[in-house]
Amino acid sequence: MTRFGPPLEALALQDVTWGAPPPGRILVRVRAAGAGFPDAMMTAGDFPLLGAPPFGLGEEAAGEVVAVPHGSRFAVGDRVAGITGFLEGWGGYANYTYLRETSAFLVPGAMTDEEAAGFPIAFRTAYAGLVERVPVTPGQYLLVLGAAGSSGAAAVQLGKALGATVIAVAGGERKTAFCAGIGADHVIDHRAEDLAVRIGELTGGHGVDVLYDPVGGDTAAAAVRGIARFGRIALIGLASGRTLPLDSSDMLLRNYSAAGVLAGPDKDPAVERAVWERLLALVRGGAVRTPVGTVHDFAGVPEMVAAQHAPEPGKSVVRVASVMA
Ligand SMILES: NC(=O)c1ccc[n+]([C@@H]2O[C@H](COP(=O)([O-])OP(=O)(O)OC[C@H]3O[C@@H](n4cnc5c(N)ncnc54)[C@H](OP(=O)(O)O)[C@@H]3O)[C@@H](O)[C@H]2O)c1
Repeated sequence: MTRFGPPLEALALQDVTWGAPPPGRILVRVRAAGAGFPDAMMTAGDFPLLGAPPFGLGEEAAGEVVAVPHGSRFAVGDRVAGITGFLEGWGGYANYTYLRETSAFLVPGAMTDEEAAGFPIAFRTAYAGLVERVPVTPGQYLLVLGAAGSSGAAAVQLGKALGATVIAVAGGERKTAFCAGIGADHVIDHRAEDLAVRIGELTGGHGVDVLYDPVGGDTAAAAVRGIARFGRIALIGLASGRTLPLDSSDMLLRNYSAAGVLAGPDKDPAVERAVWERLLALVRGGAVRTPVGTVHDFAGVPEMVAAQHAPEPGKSVVRVASVMA
C-alpha cells in the first residue's frame, strides 16, 4: 500500500527485501492469503492500530517456512499458516511474509492452502468472542450478524461446535442459503424480514442469549431489540461503517450487556498455543472448516479490496504462489 485512498490507486506491486526473521517471527513463502473487510478499512485509512503507508496489506497467510530465528519451534520447509506481521507493515499479499510465531500453526494435511490462509483471523476472532469474552454455553441461542461473511461464518460454525442453537442473519437468498449450508439452525434474511419479530418467533419469545456483531449500525440495533434478559453482545466490527448505538438506559432496564472483542494472542505463549490446538482439533474432527468463497489472483488484489463493500458469501482468499518464479 503506497498511500491511503481508493484501492485501485493506493495498491501497487513493489519490490522489497525481507531480512532474517527477528525473534517471534518466521519467514514464509506465501502460497495463499486470507482477505476480508479489514483490507478495505486499512486501504481507506479507517483501521485503528495501523501506522502510515507504505506497508504490505494482508492479515493472514499460508505457505512454507523459509527461515526461522534461533530457538523457533518451526523448521524450514514446514507447511504453516498464521497471522502476519501486518501491524508492522509485513502483510500476506506478497511473495514472502513474516508470520507471528505465537499465532502460527502447522497446517493439517487435509486443509487446502486456501482453507489454511483463510482460517486464522476469523476463527481466532470467533474464539475470542465466543469462548474468551462472551462465552456461549450449550443450549443457548446465539445470533450471528454478517453470517455469510468471514467473521460471521466462523462464529456460526464455532457456535455450533460449542453447542449453541445458532441463528444466522444475512442479506439476500444466496447468502441465507450459504448460512444454512454451513450449519446454522435458523436463518433470517435481514433484507426481507423483521429481525426482532423473527427472533421472537424462533426463540419462543426468549430472545437471543448472545449476539455476535461484526456489522454494527441499523442491523445490529434491530437485533438488540430481540436480545434476551441477561443477554450479552460481542462487539466484533463495523462492516456497515457505523457503530451499534448502545442505550445504557435500555441495557439497564432489560438487563443485557456488551463486551468489546479485539482478538489478540494471550500473553502466555503456552495458553495461545493451546487455543490454536483447540481450534485445529475442531478442524481435524470436521466440526469447522474455512468456507472458502471467491479465490482471487494475486494481481487482482486492488479489485478484490474494492469489492469488499459488496462481498460475496464465504471467505475471500488470494492465491499468491501462482505468480511466483
Ligand atoms: N474484533 C476483531 O478482532 C476483528 C477481527 C476480524 C474482523 N473484525 C471486523 O469485523 C468486521 C467484518 O469483517 P469481515 O472480514 O467478517 O467482513 P466480511 O467478510 O466482508 O463480512 C461482513 C458482512 O457484513 C455485512 N455488511 C453490512 N453492511 C455492509 C457494508 N456496508 N459493506 C460490507 N459488508 C456489509 C455483509 O453481510 P450481508 O450482506 O449479509 O448483510 C457482509 O457479509 C470488520 O469491521 C472487521 O474489521 C474484527
